[in-house]
Amino acid sequence: MRRGAKQTLLFGLAAAVIFLASGVSLAGTAAAPTGELRIEGKKPARFSHATHLAQGMDCGQCHHDAKHQPLSAQAIEARLSAGGTLACGSCHTKGVANKKLQRRKAVFHGRCRTCHKQGYNGKKGPTRCNGCHIKKKRKKLEGC
Ligand code: HEC
Ligand code: HEC
Ligand code: HEC
Ligand code: HEC
Repeated sequence: MRRGAKQTLLFGLAAAVIFLASGVSLAGTAAAPTGELRIEGKKPARFSHATHLAQGMDCGQCHHDAKHQPLSAQAIEARLSAGGTLACGSCHTKGVANKKLQRRKAVFHGRCRTCHKQGYNGKKGPTRCNGCHIKKKRKKLEGC
């Protein structure tokens, strides 16, 4: 093989690997974060997409738009690439007319805890406070 052609081939392969590793699929669907998230607030909680997606849920089970319509992975991708956010608190402040749904407890317990109590496909989630809530981050020590 000519040296130039070989280099072009290697470059192409490297680009493809980087593209695939970035988690963006060709169909334009967003990938859920793989690690555990920490939902910040006065009572921080943990949340793992992997656990929930393994139950066969789709994104719209939790993510919805300003009209409260469920968001698909494609719709999420479109939203994020347009610079939008999925943060629940981005709407659930003054953004929703219903005063009750401006309170974080109603928003998160309403979605998370209700399902944990009722169960999904016969499987229940934790309902005790420390099943979801974690300790607040300790203040960083000087120099760490
Ligand atoms: C299924 C998961 C889950 C369980 C179980 C749960 N919570 Fe929460 N809760 C959350 C999430 C997520 C938030 C949003 C994080 C935040 O705002 O700090 C939240 C928020 C709150 C808030 C609101 C904080 C604010 O700023 O208004 C309070 C208070 C609270 N939880 C108390 C409790 C208590 C007490 C229990 C046990 C009786 C409990 N939670 C059980 C997930 C849970
Ligand atoms: C069981 C509920 C649930 C399901 C199902 C779910 N998510 Fe999430 N997702 C959340 C919560 C809660 C957050 C954190 C929101 C916050 O911080 O206010 C989040 C955050 C995200 C974020 C990070 C957003 C940001 O602004 O950093 C992405 C990306 C995401 N989800 C994609 C997806 C995709 C794609 C799917 C479907 C394949 C999905 N999620 C399914 C609950 C869910
Ligand atoms: C783009 C804006 C927007 C975002 C982002 C958003 N919501 Fe909502 N949500 C709404 C609207 C609008 C309603 C309907 C309000 C009404 O009926 O008065 C709603 C209703 C709800 C309700 C009450 C009805 C129900 O389905 O139980 C819950 C609970 C809720 N949202 C939780 C969440 C959670 C959890 C997230 C983050 C994963 C989230 N929302 C993100 C706009 C949003
Ligand atoms: C539609 C139903 C449903 C919703 C909505 C839901 N969960 Fe769950 N969750 C489950 C089920 C079912 C399990 C148990 C899974 C298992 O046993 O493998 C679970 C397990 C968990 C666990 C323990 C396992 C782990 O991942 O560490 C935590 C923590 C948790 N959920 C937090 C949350 C939070 C926080 C939210 C809201 C942002 C939420 N869940 C929304 C159904 C739900």
